[in-house]
Amino acid sequence: MLYQSIVEATELPRIIRLERNVYGAVFSLMKLLPARFMIDRAEDNGALTPQTTVIETSSGTFGLGLAMVCRMRGHRLRIVGDPAIDKNLRARLRGLGAEVDIVESVGRTGGYQRARLDRVAELCEQYPDHFVPGQYDSKDNPNAYGHAAELITATLGGADCLVGPVGSGGSTGGMASFLRLAEPDMRLIGVDTHGSVIFGMPDEPRLVRGLGNSLMPANVQHDAYDEAHWVNAAETFRATRELHETRSLFMGPTSGAAYLVARWWAARHPDAKVVVLMPDEGYRYQDSVYSDEWLRENGVRQDELPARPQLVGAPSSAGTGWSYTEWGRRTLTDVLSGDSSGRGLVAAGAAI
Ligand SMILES: Cc1ncc(COP(=O)(O)O)c(C=O)c1O
Repeated sequence: MLYQSIVEATELPRIIRLERNVYGAVFSLMKLLPARFMIDRAEDNGALTPQTTVIETSSGTFGLGLAMVCRMRGHRLRIVGDPAIDKNLRARLRGLGAEVDIVESVGRTGGYQRARLDRVAELCEQYPDHFVPGQYDSKDNPNAYGHAAELITATLGGADCLVGPVGSGGSTGGMASFLRLAEPDMRLIGVDTHGSVIFGMPDEPRLVRGLGNSLMPANVQHDAYDEAHWVNAAETFRATRELHETRSLFMGPTSGAAYLVARWWAARHPDAKVVVLMPDEGYRYQDSVYSDEWLRENGVRQDELPARPQLVGAPSSAGTGWSYTEWGRRTLTDVLSGDSSGRGLVAAGAAI
């Protein structure tokens, strides 16, 4: 097969059997899919011309995907990130011709995310001819996952359960909506981390990057999820390293967290076909997740993984270890109105 570009060659996942009934949809860089799709759409509808500056906020993989696509198409790109963009990624983005703004100060609420969005607004004023792809709001993000869903259907004949990490909500929401056209009952399990507002916890500093959020993205379609899990940093990093140590799969931490959940759910449903989204490779995390020294410095203990999560009735009971709730395709408001402690309600109300 001759590909016309590295994006075309690597944007779709490889489907790899990981357990008897668990299949990884293993991406080199999942965000290439929405990056290419959103740029294509904007070029087609005239929102993006050769004079337009593309402006986007990202602290990682979406920025890299956009930079690759924009370089190939000749578009000027400004990425607004935070210190999570390590110096290697910064150098790579700059090598691809992107200008990188790092916000150093944390906004009053909404963490770096708020500060990044404020900077994007400033840049938009500075560049009147701009295009903001908007991975958190644009429907072109979830809509980008049609071919990946087709590949799963063609390879496995569909899925009974899809497990994936949730950041913007684009990949899990998009893949599920395509797969459910054929199988409306397919279970969707979202994987989040403690201190993220996505499934109703209060915003707190988080060590896991790539999943979770300090602000609520419009692209998270809460009523699409059947189950929501919270996996903490130590569990996420341990599971990521186990994936490498036992399956030779060298992936980023969001893949590890999703794998932990998928493996557990699949063992309890031996007749179900479980697909787990694995969004990026491990290279970017060699000095963090894969470094014992970094883990020690950050107070992350490499304990044994819990055999199972704790079932909780509401986000406010999620505690500090791996836990989950039966979301039941409800809206966030419905879930939080049943949360009698109100802790989650206050947090999400502040963040939306
Ligand atoms: C490495 C990684 N994993 C998972 C996600 C979450 O995917 P989504 O934004 O589609 O919810 C992201 C989002 O940026 C990511 O960078």
